[in-house]
Amino acid sequence: MSHPIIDDLKSRHTVKQYDANRKVPRETMDVILEALRLSPSSINSQPWKFIVIESDEAKQRFHDTFANKFQFNQKHAKTASHTILFAYNPKYNRSDYSRVVDKQIADGRAKPEDREKLFGSFAFSELNTDPQGVNAPWTKAQLYLAMGNVMHTIARLGVDCTPMEGVDKDMIGELFAKELNGYICEVALAIGYSDADDYNAALPKSRLNKEDVITVI
Ligand SMILES: Cc1cc2nc3c(=O)[nH]c(=O)nc-3n(C[C@H](O)[C@H](O)[C@H](O)COP(=O)(O)O)c2cc1C
Repeated sequence: MSHPIIDDLKSRHTVKQYDANRKVPRETMDVILEALRLSPSSINSQPWKFIVIESDEAKQRFHDTFANKFQFNQKHAKTASHTILFAYNPKYNRSDYSRVVDKQIADGRAKPEDREKLFGSFAFSELNTDPQGVNAPWTKAQLYLAMGNVMHTIARLGVDCTPMEGVDKDMIGELFAKELNGYICEVALAIGYSDADDYNAALPKSRLNKEDVITVI
């Protein structure tokens, strides 16, 4: 099949080795971060925080989070141009949703007099919340939508990336406590340019066949 979207998805790959000398230009990063901000989420909840690691100081801190686990991803902390920590709110509540409601009014999507009605959608969040107020599986699911969206954007821009669930959530929680402010990071995205000896770049794409995963009825 020939289509620009399919070409993007076939040409991208998970980077295993970055060219440490190449930085993603500011203007390109701006597009990536705007695509991230525009990601859709259930009831437009946006129960996330994206922490962009750019400075040497932050890269060192991220590097240090691999002290105990997942060392195979550690090299990306300093060789990737940037890394985004994807963090979710484990207890998304009505007050969090009020920010979304008020922004929708400010953006002209709804009238101020309808403010109370807009909270009707919050019932969907409540359906996914346990008696302790925890809705982490639901908020975490939203993060992956944002990640998929931005991974395609990155491919379109000719930039490379590595999605990483191989990150130590406890160490990240400790070393980035100030930035996370109660949110939890269990997945990150390194961004940069693949190095000449990134073995994964040369491997053919491999996916299950259409008939194994797609049923058209
Ligand atoms: C949510 C998620 C987590 C992943 N975690 C890691 C990881 O920690 N380290 C790694 O090298 N690759 C990781 N991968 C990459 C996958 O192994 C890769 O996407 C898959 O094998 C398909 O290969 P491709 O991305 O090159 O097309 C992850 C991918 C996803 C989507």
